[in-house]
Amino acid sequence: MTVLVTGAAGGVGRLLAPRLAEEFDLVLTDQVAAPGVIIGDLTDPGFRSEVLTGVDAVVHLAGDADPEHDWSRLRVPNADLVAGLLDAAVAAGVGRVVLASSAHAMAGHVDAGRIPVREDWPPSPCCQYGAVKVFAEALGRAYAASWGLRVICLRLGGVRERPVARSWLPGWLSPGDLGRLVGAALRADVEFGTYHGMSANTGSHWDLSRARAELGYVPLDDSIRYAGDVPDDLVAEPDPRARPRLGLAHRS
Ligand SMILES: NC(=O)c1ccc[n+]([C@@H]2O[C@H](COP(=O)([O-])OP(=O)(O)OC[C@H]3O[C@@H](n4cnc5c(N)ncnc54)[C@H](O)[C@@H]3O)[C@@H](O)[C@H]2O)c1
Repeated sequence: MTVLVTGAAGGVGRLLAPRLAEEFDLVLTDQVAAPGVIIGDLTDPGFRSEVLTGVDAVVHLAGDADPEHDWSRLRVPNADLVAGLLDAAVAAGVGRVVLASSAHAMAGHVDAGRIPVREDWPPSPCCQYGAVKVFAEALGRAYAASWGLRVICLRLGGVRERPVARSWLPGWLSPGDLGRLVGAALRADVEFGTYHGMSANTGSHWDLSRARAELGYVPLDDSIRYAGDVPDDLVAEPDPRARPRLGLAHRS
């Protein structure tokens, strides 16, 4: 299977690509340079069609990953671009798109103390970033229902080599489990679905039952091994408008 990875020069893409490369033929793209990456702006329809030619599946990571940003900054990379990519995927005959959603789409449940958050609960975004991710998921559902594209939305937790602070422990997604999750999403016999993407963390706020059952995701890592030496979080900003900045780190 030939898989196009967008946003391949970003933090998640750099951790994911070497793991996916063990099983899939990869085409990497980003608007910034990195080894093996085809450089281009995916908001350009011509470039989109070019990189989608001959591709079986897309892992779409390109976008604005900052939970602090508001609609004015998120609209093009996280809404318009997803719509354009799904359109171009259908036109190019691509069979499957894996969308990088975020735990922020469901983090309102955590804020309200409803944990562990189940995947079959309605979305509850904590911020504009989370709300735009929910919109992208809804677009994916429409393309699955009306155009027969398989769309798998992964509500990723905090992806880093290791948790960066204590509050990251419940929602951490290790690089190894990231590879296992996205690989499972590329193989699964699923038309459309939304799934949590975290490691098997002790005390997790995130239920993974649906990802395990429908995708066959088997997480192997647990953030508890870092609990003894992970730093405490910085003190929260007093300005409530700064709340989304804490984003996933605050609530995962
Ligand atoms: N990092 C995390 O812990 C995390 C958690 C949840 C969800 N996500 C989601 O995963 C995805 C990747 O996150 P990340 O942390 O790697 O972000 P990142 O900012 O490190 O990487 C995103 C990449 O997308 C590229 N990009 C943006 N707009 C583009 C365009 N128009 N054309 C081509 N390339 C473009 C950027 O150049 C960048 O390299 C994002 O959709 C993000 O919302 C990330």
